[in-house]
Amino acid sequence: MTSVTPPSTTNDPHAATESLIAASDEHSAHNYHPLPVVVATAEGAWMTDVEGRRYLDMLAGYSALNFGHGNRRLIEAARAQLERVTLTSRAFHHDRFADFCTQLAELCGMEAVLPMNTGAEAVETAVKTARKWGYRVKGVPDGRARIVVASDNFHGRTTTIVSFSTDPEARADFGPYTPGFDIVPYGDLAALQEAVTEDTVAVLLEPIQGEAGVLVPPAGYLAGVRDVTRERNVLFIADEIQSGLGRTGRTFACEHEGVVPDMYVLGKALGGGVVPVSAVVSSKAVLGVFRPGEHGSTFGGNPLACAVALEVMAMLRSGEFQQRATELGEHLHAELGLLTGTGKVAEVRGRGLWAGVDIDPSYGTGREISEKLMARGVLVKDTHGSTIRIAPPLVISKEDLDWGLDQLRAVLGA
Ligand SMILES: Cc1ncc(COP(=O)(O)O)c(C=O)c1O
Repeated sequence: MTSVTPPSTTNDPHAATESLIAASDEHSAHNYHPLPVVVATAEGAWMTDVEGRRYLDMLAGYSALNFGHGNRRLIEAARAQLERVTLTSRAFHHDRFADFCTQLAELCGMEAVLPMNTGAEAVETAVKTARKWGYRVKGVPDGRARIVVASDNFHGRTTTIVSFSTDPEARADFGPYTPGFDIVPYGDLAALQEAVTEDTVAVLLEPIQGEAGVLVPPAGYLAGVRDVTRERNVLFIADEIQSGLGRTGRTFACEHEGVVPDMYVLGKALGGGVVPVSAVVSSKAVLGVFRPGEHGSTFGGNPLACAVALEVMAMLRSGEFQQRATELGEHLHAELGLLTGTGKVAEVRGRGLWAGVDIDPSYGTGREISEKLMARGVLVKDTHGSTIRIAPPLVISKEDLDWGLDQLRAVLGA
């Protein structure tokens, strides 16, 4: 077996980075275009590369790392569980499962949980649940169930999910596509209302569209969707995989509009950046449609996942992280707002410690800005041309956040 050992006798400070990237390029599918940094260790909001350079993490694993890298409480919870039992499969019960389901249902103000692993699996689960509910409970004729989704959505990468993506990169060459989805413009309540028919079983939305560039819908939109779905006996499914669990200053982004959907789809931060944990959370009437054997996952709800997620929920119940996201988020948006005044930034959107920043294209693409920030020790990720996303771990200090913003100002010459 060969392993790529970084060269130790060279004066080139990038030699190890380059050799590891070359080896990755040689032996992996090129389904990502990462920034040219090779991370070796991380703690809190900081990462260190294989040559000892430090970087402020302003992406937080697309919000999977809301509680920071190597969070001691989460690492300890995982370590303790590693010594006990890690996997039973759902063929047997295990002693962390009841607490996990009870506490997650409680956190969501709902009744029942169906655990999975990745976000896309949870979205698939939500789609399957809605269809089965449509046939068994709502009485939609067999094979006719439809789900209304929004343009520019991002719900994951499975063949069914990319079937209702409007992003050609995510969709092209993966057909034939799964039918049964109606796509309406995000934020357009009238269009959504129009799209709902007798056969509609669900409306599936991100309360804030993350991958699209942190798009916040118009005020009143989510509340309007709630009214329409209630009136038409349609499930309102909120994909809070990226927006949920503290990021926006509330446990759920839907709370900003006082909206409670029929179903939350959760992932990312639920696993504390330690293990993949996702779930669909809803009422007993909705999740009660499943019978043994109709859906499942070998790793879904495993003891290690439950132990970490239980600690995540304990941290969320303190309110500390939501509070930090609110306070630091106000500061972040105030500072970014000043940049729009300089003409370097076209628009800033977001909520809490989460921002989509449209850089004026004359200063470069989002990728170029990300690379310049990287050279200054800040890691962000671009999306859609000239947009960069800022979503640091919620544990970031105000000083570090300010330092990161200084680097952005420097890159933009502001
Ligand atoms: C809103 C939303 N839904 C679903 C997903 C898919 O999650 P995963 O990558 O864990 O499959 C993502 C990932 O970015 C997301 O942001």
